[in-house]
Amino acid sequence: MCGIVGYIGTQQAAPLILEGLSRLEHRGYDSAGVAVLGGSKEATVRVAKQAGRVRDLSNELPKRFTGKVGIGHTRWATHGPANDVNAHPHTDASGDVAVVHNGIIDNAATLRAQLTADGVDLLSDTDTEVLAHLIARSDAETLEARVAQALTSIEGTYGLAVVHAAFPDRIVVARNGSPLLIGVGEKEMLVASDLAALIRHTTMVAHLEDGEIATLTAGGFTTYRADLSSTHRTATEVDVDPASYDAGDHESFMHKEMSEQPEAAERVLRGRLDERFGTAHLGGLPMGARETRAIKRVKILGCGSSYYVGQMGASLIEELARIPADAEAASEFRYRDPVIEPDTLYVAVSQSGETIDTLLAVQEINRKGGRCVGLVNVVGSAIARECDGGIYLHAGPEVAVASTKALTNMFLGFALLALQLGRVRDLSISDGKRLIAGLRALPDQITEILEREEEIAEVAKVLAEAESLFFIGRVRGFPVAREGAQKFKEISYRHAEAYQTSELKHGPLALISPEVPTVAIVPNDELTDRNVGALHEIAARGGPLVVITHADVDLGDVVCRRIDLPRSERELDPILLTIPLQLLAYRAAQHLGHDIDKPRNLAKSVTVE
Ligand code: AGP
Repeated sequence: MCGIVGYIGTQQAAPLILEGLSRLEHRGYDSAGVAVLGGSKEATVRVAKQAGRVRDLSNELPKRFTGKVGIGHTRWATHGPANDVNAHPHTDASGDVAVVHNGIIDNAATLRAQLTADGVDLLSDTDTEVLAHLIARSDAETLEARVAQALTSIEGTYGLAVVHAAFPDRIVVARNGSPLLIGVGEKEMLVASDLAALIRHTTMVAHLEDGEIATLTAGGFTTYRADLSSTHRTATEVDVDPASYDAGDHESFMHKEMSEQPEAAERVLRGRLDERFGTAHLGGLPMGARETRAIKRVKILGCGSSYYVGQMGASLIEELARIPADAEAASEFRYRDPVIEPDTLYVAVSQSGETIDTLLAVQEINRKGGRCVGLVNVVGSAIARECDGGIYLHAGPEVAVASTKALTNMFLGFALLALQLGRVRDLSISDGKRLIAGLRALPDQITEILEREEEIAEVAKVLAEAESLFFIGRVRGFPVAREGAQKFKEISYRHAEAYQTSELKHGPLALISPEVPTVAIVPNDELTDRNVGALHEIAARGGPLVVITHADVDLGDVVCRRIDLPRSERELDPILLTIPLQLLAYRAAQHLGHDIDKPRNLAKSVTVE
C-alpha cells in the first residue's frame, strides 16, 4: 500500500523516481509526488505533488525540476482524501525537510494536537506531515540523529525516506512494519518499498529490518539500530528476471498473470511430488512424521481471496488427511482473543507476505506459543519470516491488484500439504498416486480453459450488463463461488454476492428475477443432482443462469449458458472451476472499460489495518 522510491547519484533524480513510481503504482494510485534536492550554491528542496496518477504528475512537472537527490511517493489514502495537499512528500514550515511515508502513525492525532498547540500550522490531513515537523524541530547534529529522535515519538508502522536541505549529500530512511529495500548501483543508490522499482537499475539489494535506520549517499549505504549503533547490513544479489515486471504483449498485468498460470503451476509442483510413495515432499515444513501425526486440527488464516483459497485448502486437508480443518479471515482472528492450541497447525496464506492483518494474526499465534507455517509467494517477506517454515508458492511477481496466478499456486500448495499430511496418516498410496496424476494434468487443463477466453467473453458481456449477480456453490464449490464473486466485484464494480446453493431458498431466492443472473458452480460430484435441483428453482423464477460445470453433467431442460470444463480429480476440481471465473470477471471489466490493473479504491498489498 503506497509506494516509495528514492535516488541519490549522478543522474537527474526526478525522471528516475517517476519511472520507479510508475512500477509501484499498483500499490496505491490516488496521488503522487516527488521532492528533489537541487540548487547550485545552497541546496533547496523542491516538491511537486498532486492527486491523480504518476503519468499526470510527469506531464505537469515544473520546468528545471533538477537535482541528483530525490524521494517520491504514490499514495493510497488513509488519513484524509486524495487531493494535492494530502499527497506526499510532506514538508515542514521552512520547506527544508521533505518526507515520504508508508504505513500508519497510530498516535498522529495526539502529535498533531501537540504541534498545533506549539504554534505549528499543519497543512494536510495526513499522519505523515507530523514527521516532517518533528524532524525539523530536532536540533541533533546529524540527519540520522534527527530522524531517530523524531521516531521516538512515533507509535505505528512506517517505511519512510527523508531529505533535508542542510544535509544535501544523503537520504535517510527508516523501517518499522513497511518494507524498504536499498538498491546499490555504480556511484548511485536507490531505495524503494518494492523490488519492482529497483530491478531495472540494480540486482544488488539489501532488505532493511524493522527498527533499522539507513543513510544512503551516492557512494554507499550504512544501516543503524534506533540508537544509531551500526547493524553492518550488506547487499546481496537477487535472482529475478526484470521482464517478469513487464506486461509484455498483454493488454494488462492481470491478463499476463492469468496466462502464466500453467507454467506457474508447474513451478510450485516441481520437485515436490513423489510418485513412488504417492506423496509430496515439502522441505520447508518444520515437522517430522511423528509431529505431523500429532496434529489434531488445521487452522488457515488469510485475507480476501487468500482466505477463500484457504477455505478450498481446508476442504482438501479434511478430505485427504481427515484432519478437521477450517479457514478464518485473518483480519478478524486476533480480535476475538483466539484460543491457540499446541496440537493445531496454523497456516498463514498470503501472496504479498505483507498483509498486515495476516502478519498480526501470525504474531498473535507466535505470542501464544502456537506453530504457524506460511504459504507465501514473496520470498523473505514479513509473513514468510514470521512463520516457522512453510511452502513458497513460486508464482513469480504478481502486479495486478486482482490476484490470479498466486491464488492458483496457493491452491496447489494446499494440495501438496494435504497430500503430505494425508500420506503420513491414512490416505492410501493408490489415492496418493491418483492425486499426483491429477496434479500433473492441471497445467495443461488450465491452458485448455484459458484458450476458451473468447467464448467466455461472450458470457461476460451479458453478465456485465447486470447491476447485481449471485455466485453459488456447495461444499467444495462454495469457496469457488466466493472467489468468483470477489474477482467480479473487484474489477467490474458490479454487486456480486456469493451464497451456498443450499441456502438460497432460506432467503436470497426472493431476489432472483430476470434482472439478477446467477453464476452456478456445478461440478460432476456427489452433489450434482442437488445442484441441478437448485438450478430449476432459479430458472422457474426467471433468473438467468450461467453454469460452470463438466461436459458429462446432465442439466436436463434447465435454460442456461454453460461453460464445460475438463474433468480433474474431484478434490482438485475447485482450481479448474476458478479459472473461467477469472476470465468472466476480466472480460466483463474490459467490456465496461475499467482500468483492470488498478481498480478503484483498492491497492495491491494491504499494509494498513
Ligand atoms: C485478490 O484479488 C485481492 N486483491 C485481495 O483480496 C487479496 O487476496 C488480499 O488482500 C490478500 O492479499 P495477500 O494474499 O497478499 O495477503
